[in-house]
Amino acid sequence: MTTDVVRRIAGHRERLEAALQRALPPHDHYPARLHEAMRYACEGGKRLRPLLVYLAGDVLGLDSPRLDSAACAVELIHVYSLVHDDLPAMDDDDLRRGRPTTHKAYDEATAILVGDALQALAFQLLAGDASPGLSAEQRVRMIAILAEAAGSRGMVGGQAVDLDSEHRHLTLAELEALHIHKTGALIRACLRLACAAADRLGDAEREALDRYGKCIGLAFQIQDDVLDVEGNSATLGKTAGKDTASGKSTYPAILGLPTARARADELFAQARAALQVFGARAAPLLDFADHIRTRDR
Ligand code: IPE
Ligand code: IPE
Ligand code: MG
Ligand code: MG
Ligand code: MG
Repeated sequence: MTTDVVRRIAGHRERLEAALQRALPPHDHYPARLHEAMRYACEGGKRLRPLLVYLAGDVLGLDSPRLDSAACAVELIHVYSLVHDDLPAMDDDDLRRGRPTTHKAYDEATAILVGDALQALAFQLLAGDASPGLSAEQRVRMIAILAEAAGSRGMVGGQAVDLDSEHRHLTLAELEALHIHKTGALIRACLRLACAAADRLGDAEREALDRYGKCIGLAFQIQDDVLDVEGNSATLGKTAGKDTASGKSTYPAILGLPTARARADELFAQARAALQVFGARAAPLLDFADHIRTRDR
């Protein structure tokens, strides 16, 4: 990454952490145990989704404060999805972000409620955002984008199909649809949220960012599947080899590792190509695509 983008990312990460601190209820406020568990679940993590929101904002020339609630909201939905994904009724995982999953550190009922509360908080943030310059119409648009991406036509729908597909052989087209829903929808929403915060935006630019988000979203879950096979638990911060053990349909299982890797690379190249319309302004998102492409966790 160029030093400019490295600096930009560090700044955005700091903004996000501060915004999350403000958004989450204090750990000692009633009901203290739930609030403590919500904070526990939100710690750690690469913060790739909020960074996508902010970097898309950079490409569009938006002020970052306009994007704080969207960046936070998308991370809160993501964390809620992880907390529920790890429950015994779903993937039954003990390790997340390098430490015990929320239901292990607390208990299952608390983990369910943490997810419920984080989801509600995400929408509360967007609805109550009083950032200067953000119109009520823009906020409603953001709420709609996030709700669609999180719900049964997005992430939750993908999770339902994922669980239904354990120990079944999916076609490549079925697996692609599953990944586009369970992971792709929320990542694509990051770009759409930034677009919703822009006052003026041409169709070509909006479509370019949407295409970028779609490609990155699918590539990201293919990589997640690849890392489950190739990675180790210490680096990943979650249990490696879990997909094979659970009989999940994954890209490596269907295509083999080299072809799965090649498919992800092809999608990253398509994501980059989609941004041509922005010329040199695309640099933050071009660099970030490479940053994600070369991740090991
Ligand atoms: C993991 O997402 C779950 C998927 C959707 C693949 P991340 O790899 O972004 O997890 P964190 O937020 O860094 O823990
Ligand atoms: C989860 O996919 C996607 C979510 C919506 C949480 P995975 O089940 O593969 O995510 P990890 O590998 O547990 O992080
Ligand atoms: Mg899962
Ligand atoms: Mg899982
Ligand atoms: Mg996985």
